[in-house]
Amino acid sequence: MARLRVGVLISGRGSNLQALIEAAADPAYPAEIVLVISNRREAQGLQHATQAGIPHEVIGERDRGVFAAVADAALRRHRVELVALAGFMRLLDTGLVEAWCDRMVNIHPSLLPAFPGLHPQRQALAAGVRFSGCTVHFVRAEMDTGPIIAQAVVPVHDEDDEDRLAARILASEHRLYPLAVRLYAEGRLRVEGNRVAVTGGVIPDIAPLNPSG
Ligand code: GAR
Repeated sequence: MARLRVGVLISGRGSNLQALIEAAADPAYPAEIVLVISNRREAQGLQHATQAGIPHEVIGERDRGVFAAVADAALRRHRVELVALAGFMRLLDTGLVEAWCDRMVNIHPSLLPAFPGLHPQRQALAAGVRFSGCTVHFVRAEMDTGPIIAQAVVPVHDEDDEDRLAARILASEHRLYPLAVRLYAEGRLRVEGNRVAVTGGVIPDIAPLNPSG
């Protein structure tokens, strides 16, 4: 069966890109990465694309509208069906977001709608929450908003600093993003207003407590 053609947009390290590449290395995974776009030439993540033999383009254009036009043309040229933002740290042109409505997803390291924007782990520590986590959602024009596909909960420890919490959340991102893309590729997501209905999902019956003692 033809696999879903995914284009990934990055700005930096690209560890979520690498998690998607590794998932797609399994021929049974229903999606493949066919294009990587970076807005920064020095993005480390481009090396993951090179190593995996995936076509990649750097679009350094600073004008938001021009960036959108060039990126859109590349995505269409590579017959991309789903766009995955993976640490893409630039606000996208509204027209591009609308053109890819319900075909563009993003991962963010908090339990949205809590802590959108920059430094979500710092925001979580400042708020004193006992749990944070990560969210994969369909992209809407406003930053870090849109119908939520999947979330993973991660405990916050008393001795956490920003880096330790970020690392614990990142490990769960690497599991959540491939899962969410798989659900999309299997046609199991239906957007209903601001909610996403997932068919055939297994609902875990867990009630985490933190602290538990
Ligand atoms: C990830 O933690 C991702 O969730 C976050 O940037 C990091 C990128 O890491 N994205 C956002 O904050 C988007 N608002 P990576 O380049 O190693 O995947």
